[in-house]
Amino acid sequence: MRVSIIYSAALLASFTSALPTNSKRADFSDFSPDGKYFPLKNGFPTPCKDEILNIQKQAFGTLPNGPAPPALSPEGVTNLQLIALNELFEVAFFTELMYNISNKFDGYDTGYGHWYVMDTLNAIIAQEQEHLLNANGALMFFKQPAIQPCKYSFPVTDFQSAISLAAKFTDLVLGTLQDVNQIFAKNGDFDLVRTVSSVIGNEAEQEGVFRLIQNKRATSQPFLTTAGRDFAFSVLQSLAVPGSCPNVDVIKLQTFKPLNVLSTDIRAQDQNLKFSFASDAGVNVTDLSLVYINQQNLPVVTDLIDPKTDGGDLVFEAKFPFEEYIMNGLTIAAVVKGKGPFATVDDVAKVTGWGPGLIEVD
Ligand SMILES: *[C@@H]1O[C@H](CO)[C@@H](O)[C@H](O)[C@H]1NC(C)=O
Ligand SMILES: *[C@@H]1O[C@H](CO)[C@@H](O)[C@H](O)[C@H]1NC(C)=O
Repeated sequence: MRVSIIYSAALLASFTSALPTNSKRADFSDFSPDGKYFPLKNGFPTPCKDEILNIQKQAFGTLPNGPAPPALSPEGVTNLQLIALNELFEVAFFTELMYNISNKFDGYDTGYGHWYVMDTLNAIIAQEQEHLLNANGALMFFKQPAIQPCKYSFPVTDFQSAISLAAKFTDLVLGTLQDVNQIFAKNGDFDLVRTVSSVIGNEAEQEGVFRLIQNKRATSQPFLTTAGRDFAFSVLQSLAVPGSCPNVDVIKLQTFKPLNVLSTDIRAQDQNLKFSFASDAGVNVTDLSLVYINQQNLPVVTDLIDPKTDGGDLVFEAKFPFEEYIMNGLTIAAVVKGKGPFATVDDVAKVTGWGPGLIEVD
């Protein structure tokens, strides 16, 4: 099993020696993942001044203390709303994960790695809380409503599946923040690019440790996979309890219908992958293509092979041309109308019906 390797003697020695001895532990005794996630004991997502000071200590750093930019474009508002929605989700996920580990629930006993994992999650949770406070703070400064948290339902039941999901959505965030920065720049919100870039670095550090825990090499690919805001928005909603997001409707982004990746344990090689989606009456399969987005490359367009209806689902295969493009790391799959070619991820999003399917190869 992959998990055992992380606790090899050599790694363990470096972990324990690297652990700060006076590190503060969070108080998670109050957190019960009974579907009611917020507010946390520290008042998050609306902590008071003193509670913010404690979050900053737990996060090992402060919120940016410079002035807000002079203006924010409408697209910039959407960017901050999406970031806020994502950060609320991340705080909920990592807080619940920490609760499960601290209680050593079945499948959550991290053995010798326990304190390293707890210490790291403790910092990540507070750092994500600051990301949210920064995004919602900017929204409120520009007289926009703060984004409120949803209720969530995470499809994980043990530490390894939780870390594998965390790695996937963090990779998606790493791609989406590229899009966010580009949109800020295009719309004159350049003052926000530096801060968001610093968050990309933080999320990438997290990704590094998730990869380590999965016994993957630390770095995935030279140019990380890009993504579009609509793809992240769709995934975030699929992880929330339907109808539980109080003001998600203020976010002017598209929500795609789900695309399921049925293939598991996908290897670094050419192969056919299996997908499904709930087929609507009137869908003409011959008009559809499957598109892959990987690294900073042009979207790869491929045919739906052997489409069949199975109950209410349309099940099909598609070629995954790993060798030609060396498709490591995250690949975003989408079922689109038309055959392309597409110049950018935005052009793909415009014609996407179902997606994203998230594929991770080493
Ligand atoms: C925490 O454990 C519960 C109960 O096993 C599970 O339903 C939930 O998905 C887990 N959450 C995380 C983030 O691991
Ligand atoms: C499906 O689309 C193809 C190509 O656009 C067309 O030739 C065919 O007639 C369509 N089939 C149906 C049932 O509409």
